[in-house]
Amino acid sequence: MKNMQTTSFQEWVKGIPYELAFWNNLYRWDKTFEGVINWSRRGQALLLEGMNVQEFLSNFEHPIVLDVGCGITYAKGDQRVTPNGLEPLDVRYLDPLAPFYNEIIRRHHRSMPAIQFGMMEHLSASIEPGTATLVIIQNALDHSSDPLRGILSALQVLRIGGCLYLQHHPNEAEAENYKGFHQFNICTDEQQHCCIWNKETNVIVDNVIAPFATIRTLTLDNGFVVSIITKTGEVPLRLASSAKDNIELGQMVESQLYSSMDLQFALAQKLRYWWYNTIHFFVQGMPSEWRQQLRRVIYKE
Ligand SMILES: C[S@@+](CC[C@H](N)C(=O)[O-])C[C@H]1O[C@@H](n2cnc3c(N)ncnc32)[C@H](O)[C@@H]1O
Repeated sequence: MKNMQTTSFQEWVKGIPYELAFWNNLYRWDKTFEGVINWSRRGQALLLEGMNVQEFLSNFEHPIVLDVGCGITYAKGDQRVTPNGLEPLDVRYLDPLAPFYNEIIRRHHRSMPAIQFGMMEHLSASIEPGTATLVIIQNALDHSSDPLRGILSALQVLRIGGCLYLQHHPNEAEAENYKGFHQFNICTDEQQHCCIWNKETNVIVDNVIAPFATIRTLTLDNGFVVSIITKTGEVPLRLASSAKDNIELGQMVESQLYSSMDLQFALAQKLRYWWYNTIHFFVQGMPSEWRQQLRRVIYKE
């Protein structure tokens, strides 16, 4: 496997305040909260652009669906279509910021399903390998510190025949100027391969996963890059191992415990949060026309 340069965990942790400030203010204001809920397909049939997901699910009796890096959007729908009408699917919402998101839901008195802790690079520490039917990662792979490992880890928790669905803005890190969680770009090349890259690294996902998965990548009319990856065999231990996941997750907890006692680091995180929270308080509280005008000025659109 070609080595992929990854972002360090400490760097990734520095992106947390921005993310939390964003969701906190999205949930704070009724109009932004309702905007998300109206956009989301919660309570509706699961729909994945570019894939006939309902036909896929009909092959499985009790499908388990994971929405990894779910944020607090419940975006994709949670029902399956049956001859008797809609039936609830077993959808599990996973995100490494789960405890914070659950607190945001509680603080703003929103009645939404709880989020479960799950980090895509270490998914087998949260989900039993070989058990999931469908893993959805939307707008989150490129937020992780190691996207290729995220893909391998998702394949590890899927059963054979299970499917990993990726949907992302093309080249998000370039668009966001490598700020916060935005450290990787996802795009397609001329052969419609799925590529992950940044200034230090470039990996063609198709080549890495070929021995144990098939992949089809397409670009939707709205520009989103979608990859549909089907697991055909077990991921070799050297690429994805539960023991390694657990050990490394333990090491991260250890490093975070250590950092939490470092006053300078803790203060910097708090200040970052206050700063972004203040900005998001005003920006998301504005009428949407003002927000669009501000965006046009900032991005010179
Ligand atoms: C832009 S939000 C996407 C939310 C939702 N999937 C959507 O499309 O509306 C990105 C999410 O990815 C999560 N994330 C960042 N790094 C991750 C990782 N290593 N594993 C899983 N999720 C991660 C963030 O916490 C955040 O909630």
